[in-house]
Amino acid sequence: MCGIVGCILKENKDVAPILFNCISKLEYRGYDSVGMATFNGEINVKKAEGDIETVDSALNFRNMKGYFGIAHTRWASTGKPTDENAHPHLDETGTVAVVHNGTLENYSYIKEELIKEGHEFKSTTDTEVIPNLIKKYMDNGLDLENAVRKATEKLKGSYAIVVFAKDEPDKLVATRMNSPLIVSYGKEGYFVASDTPAVLEYARNVVRPKEGEIAILTKKGIEIHDANGKKVPWRSEYIDWTPEMAQKEGYDHFMIKEIIEQSTAVRNTLGQKANIKKVIEEIGDVKRICFVACGTSYHASISGKYLIESLAGIPIDVIIASEAKYTAKTWDEDTLVVFISQSGETYDSRMALKQARKTSKTLAIVNVAGSAMSEEAEFVIQTQAGPEIGVAATKTYVAQLTAIYLFAGLLAGDDDLINQLYKVPTYIDEVTSQREYIKELSSRYDFADDAFYLGRGFSYPIALEGALKLKEITYIHAEGYAAGELKHGPLALIDEKVPVFVIIPPGEDYDKTMTNLEEVKARDAIILSVGAEGDEKIAKNSRMVFEINPAVKDIIAPLVYIVPLQLISYYVTLDKGYNPDKPRNLAKVITV
Ligand code: G6P
Repeated sequence: MCGIVGCILKENKDVAPILFNCISKLEYRGYDSVGMATFNGEINVKKAEGDIETVDSALNFRNMKGYFGIAHTRWASTGKPTDENAHPHLDETGTVAVVHNGTLENYSYIKEELIKEGHEFKSTTDTEVIPNLIKKYMDNGLDLENAVRKATEKLKGSYAIVVFAKDEPDKLVATRMNSPLIVSYGKEGYFVASDTPAVLEYARNVVRPKEGEIAILTKKGIEIHDANGKKVPWRSEYIDWTPEMAQKEGYDHFMIKEIIEQSTAVRNTLGQKANIKKVIEEIGDVKRICFVACGTSYHASISGKYLIESLAGIPIDVIIASEAKYTAKTWDEDTLVVFISQSGETYDSRMALKQARKTSKTLAIVNVAGSAMSEEAEFVIQTQAGPEIGVAATKTYVAQLTAIYLFAGLLAGDDDLINQLYKVPTYIDEVTSQREYIKELSSRYDFADDAFYLGRGFSYPIALEGALKLKEITYIHAEGYAAGELKHGPLALIDEKVPVFVIIPPGEDYDKTMTNLEEVKARDAIILSVGAEGDEKIAKNSRMVFEINPAVKDIIAPLVYIVPLQLISYYVTLDKGYNPDKPRNLAKVITV
């Protein structure tokens, strides 16, 4: 998803190297084009399609002049990824520069209107209407701040924008609606960005403007104004995520670093036990729980369903956020709607949260402090995975599971489950310590066009998440299936060329899953099982086995069995020559 940065320095030195460094830190969000604009009497713009390194070696962003500017990584949504469509966008006179994250639902009407008025457009983006509207209002006599305010009043959809103008220089003006935006300050100057990792190296005091507020950054400081232009007091929070946490620290990729950090993510999230207990007490009685999430967070939610239904007997629905509209009609004051999101910014989840707030108690389980959903939900649990940069979620997933397990265990008063959780970090470390072996196993899979993942009960969401990891980063078509569903369709596709990953921990579903394993074996599939150490039956029936030691039972399996599957996807990706951190077409934070 697009990343935006703006910076204005306290001193008159060139901002470009800092801006470049900041925008490079947002690569993880996913992007296809990059651009920067600075000001030194004139607006200078460099932008092109391509990755940051390639575009920089062609255009040399870092030698741009001027002490303030804006930068952008674009993830194409309206208009193809081309040089013309890359941001920053200027108005037709070249005097107002804008970077934008989000999508404007009504841009085509505004564009038509502006064209009728004689304006000309260069790109096929929605964004280009914004600088043109601002310029129009400035020409009508408004100052930059009020022109931005008036322009945004016309916009429908989502936006976080940073703007500067030749006719009113020496300031950056930023605002947001349904898209994330932070403002921050440090020794060198004042910053505005989509997300904290962009600025951590320079500024760790973060202010979070509310929707519709306007932030004005000059070399003297920050002001935040409300919708009527009235100055509002702001409070900053100190971000204790260190810049190093968002670096590779010697690992080849963020993904492998983050897989290894999973034991720490679990350990730190277990530290939230007292908070979670308090949240449960404050929530009080509920008759029904509805989880709402997307992607990997949706899979964590399914684990939550199995767990809470089996331990606490509360009926649970799990809904994909973009499909929540219909179920939302059934939410009432006895429903707790739980939103799971690593970013806390996912657009569909946020829209469902807005809806849920009208009828029900809402709880957000998010990894990013101060993110939109953590501000908007009635109750919040913060997972403690630290910043996750790899697009494919790994450590945020096990941290979400840990929070859900604590929530379920505390809700049901199940001390035994909670005690078991404290051993999970060691189990995870045991798996990651075997990564050379997993690498070896993985080298036999890069040929595959399709793969299936099978699991039952607690292992069903593991199958879904294992398949998602494979398809996201290796581009191999992969499907996770409830093992019992196999014979209702996918069995037709199984032959000697198809890898099937079977998740088969000890527990009450073991025998049935073994039957399914035998069914695929009978069709000569290439079976890789993940099961308990020393399980000879699994070894006999599978082509390859990854053994989990010690033999954790099915209820704990989601926290541990996923780890070898993440590692397999990682190594297959390397064998195929792809970058696991930046899968094509995908983004880390989906704010549209
Ligand atoms: C994107 C990310 C996924 C993530 C999903 C939901 O697709 O690439 O890794 O699972 O969004 O994001 P959330 O931040 O709401 O967990």
